[in-house]
Amino acid sequence: MSARRVAVVTGATSGIGLAISRALVADGWALFAVVRSAAKLAAAGLPLLGSAVGDLADPEFAATALDGLDLAGAREAVLVNNAGAIDPIDRFDRLDPTILARTMALNATTPLVLSGVFARKLGAADGCRGAIVQIGSGAAVRPIAGWTAYCASKAALHHGTAVMAGETDPARCSIFVLSPGVIETPMQAAIRATDDAAMPDAPAFRQMARDGALRSPEVPANWLVLRLRSWDLPHGEVVDLFGA
Ligand SMILES: NC(=O)c1ccc[n+]([C@@H]2O[C@H](COP(=O)([O-])OP(=O)(O)OC[C@H]3O[C@@H](n4cnc5c(N)ncnc54)[C@H](OP(=O)(O)O)[C@@H]3O)[C@@H](O)[C@H]2O)c1
Repeated sequence: MSARRVAVVTGATSGIGLAISRALVADGWALFAVVRSAAKLAAAGLPLLGSAVGDLADPEFAATALDGLDLAGAREAVLVNNAGAIDPIDRFDRLDPTILARTMALNATTPLVLSGVFARKLGAADGCRGAIVQIGSGAAVRPIAGWTAYCASKAALHHGTAVMAGETDPARCSIFVLSPGVIETPMQAAIRATDDAAMPDAPAFRQMARDGALRSPEVPANWLVLRLRSWDLPHGEVVDLFGA
């Protein structure tokens, strides 16, 4: 029997994506995971409707990552574009151009591409309502020294999402950005480990951790699952959970 509620989550193997995947599965969603490591996916122990394994910074993989997704018979479908990276962290005049381009692709181009593929599949699935959730960041609107790649890519994601929402009937598909706040994940650990010369705000992030100011990945995950349960979804907005 085909699944009634289908969730696609990118980067389902760590941090916020893992928490969202677990929370969705616990709420009865069938999960299609898009990840870069089959071993990490197996270790996560998530029950799967399907999966695709590859490098989401690679546009060729991104274009085909949802080929195995079948929404026939589904009544609700959600795409959570969560996979992301923050490297390279450094002054703009010292950035490795290859890593800069990869992060722009992973954080901005790929979620926009996946959104288009998902929307086409949704359009072909009669009677299925949909949602596209982009995991964004306060860094999209707040410049942080050392974060050229991250700030620029998240700004592109936020703005591209606003355009997509304007082109879409929210009764068919709700499209919005979820900005989760400062969440304790491996990405935050990497930020704290950054040299102050590359990122002058690194000590402030270390202080936040000492102060216990970071939230757990379950916080944005639970928020999303509750909103999906009631299908009380924003459209064309940036939902900034904690004003971070
Ligand atoms: N943590 C925060 O405070 C915070 C705040 C605002 C926004 N965000 C956003 O939240 C999202 C999740 O971040 P996180 O904090 O949970 O970090 P994380 O634990 O480092 O998770 C990042 C996820 O993206 C996947 N990924 C990275 N590069 C990839 C690639 N080239 N191809 C495929 N998958 C790739 C990782 O795969 P692996 O599991 O294999 O490493 C991992 O699953 C990101 O979009 C991030 O920008 C985080």
